[in-house]
Amino acid sequence: APLALWGGRFASGPAAALTELSRSTQFDWRLADVDISGSIAHAHVLHTAGLLSDDEVRGMVDALELLRADVASGAFGPTPDDEDVHTSLERGLIERAGADLGGKLRAGRSRNDQIATLVRMYLRREARVLAGLVLDVADALLGQAQAAGDAPMPGRTHLQHAQPVLLAHHLLAHVWPLMRDVDRWISWDSRAARSPYGSGALAGSSLGLDPAAVAAELGFDGPVENSIDGTSSRDVVAEFAFVAAMLAVDVSRLAEEVVLWSTKEFGFVRLHDAFSTGSSIMPQKKNPDVAELARGKAGRIIGDLTGLLATLKGLPLAYNRDLQEDKEPVFDQIDQLRVLLPAFGGMVATLTFDLDRMAQLAPQGFSLATDIAEWLVRQGVPFRVAHEVAGACVRACEEHEPSIELWDLTDDELAAISPHLTPGVREVLSVEGSLASRSATGGTAPSAVAAQLVDARNVATSL
Ligand code: ARG
Repeated sequence: APLALWGGRFASGPAAALTELSRSTQFDWRLADVDISGSIAHAHVLHTAGLLSDDEVRGMVDALELLRADVASGAFGPTPDDEDVHTSLERGLIERAGADLGGKLRAGRSRNDQIATLVRMYLRREARVLAGLVLDVADALLGQAQAAGDAPMPGRTHLQHAQPVLLAHHLLAHVWPLMRDVDRWISWDSRAARSPYGSGALAGSSLGLDPAAVAAELGFDGPVENSIDGTSSRDVVAEFAFVAAMLAVDVSRLAEEVVLWSTKEFGFVRLHDAFSTGSSIMPQKKNPDVAELARGKAGRIIGDLTGLLATLKGLPLAYNRDLQEDKEPVFDQIDQLRVLLPAFGGMVATLTFDLDRMAQLAPQGFSLATDIAEWLVRQGVPFRVAHEVAGACVRACEEHEPSIELWDLTDDELAAISPHLTPGVREVLSVEGSLASRSATGGTAPSAVAAQLVDARNVATSL
């Protein structure tokens, strides 16, 4: 008969259909290593509480380390009869330590406090790995921003030409959200760093075990304050999932721009052969699949968060089996991000920008109209009037057949629109003049962007 953890009060074994439904080893096996670490810490407090002798705790820890090695090598794994990772590992322990000693480990703990602790341990580990991968993407962007120097591009709002900006400024605008995502995981960690071990099923343990000692051994800042909260809350998991989703959304916005920029129509950027794909029928094709997968995966990663929140909604305290459904969504997010981020960073690092084309397009579409208005304001004209006058300049350009650009207007045409429009206005009718004038902190002037790049690098290295 399979070794279940709860057979005593049942006359018959579980139906095959229940076993199929209940089994979670296909996804929770990845927690085996942290489960064994938890078990070793638990053995230590059983010993401290006088419930395991010196010999017993030594034998127990040796058997658990043997089991850890067998799990790592693949020599030990779950069978179809193992309900979950905990059941399977208890079987592995008993196979190595014997039923008498192996059967003592479970005292004073429940799978409810165990799983809540293990998920936190695993997510804390993974958050560090993912944060490193995000910083690699940020690094690739910082490298591109540095290389772009003072090269301008058409800045857009509503996807329409708006004002010229530095390419570096635009690239840095993608770096800051990524660094905030990393920062979110850092501050999340302080909330994840409390150990539910010792909460038992929901009410705590009567065996005199020290939750603080287990917490310290497992790298937590301390134990949870409330055993019911410790076993039944999953906000820490949901918050992790939110950061993952936010990150995926942030990445998807750059991905969408790469898709657009690499079209013939934009022609802003060329993808490296190593980070683009071909077509099975159209020999000429070079497709931005990395960016498209980034955009697409953002959808499922958001879905993972949404599904988890829906699982948690309305759940009464304390533990409910519904909570077993907390793991697959975050594991999926982790698995997706672990393959996506290295490819995405590689794509970014190897982009080649067509700086000439971007510079040529930067002033087109009347993107210097705001500069006319702000130049007029500096001459003392109220902005309401200045806005009208600059708008009239655009209209005058469009009345030409074909339409001309703002700097093509003659001195006479400018003077006819408004007496305030003296030839001096031409100083801002260039991309360089427009860019240089936006020199306050956070602006797109080359001087401000150079300072911003230094700041961004400092933040990135501090994370
Ligand atoms: N596998 C469960 C989970 O992931 C932990 C086991 C708790 N099961 C139980 N019947 N109390 O949440």
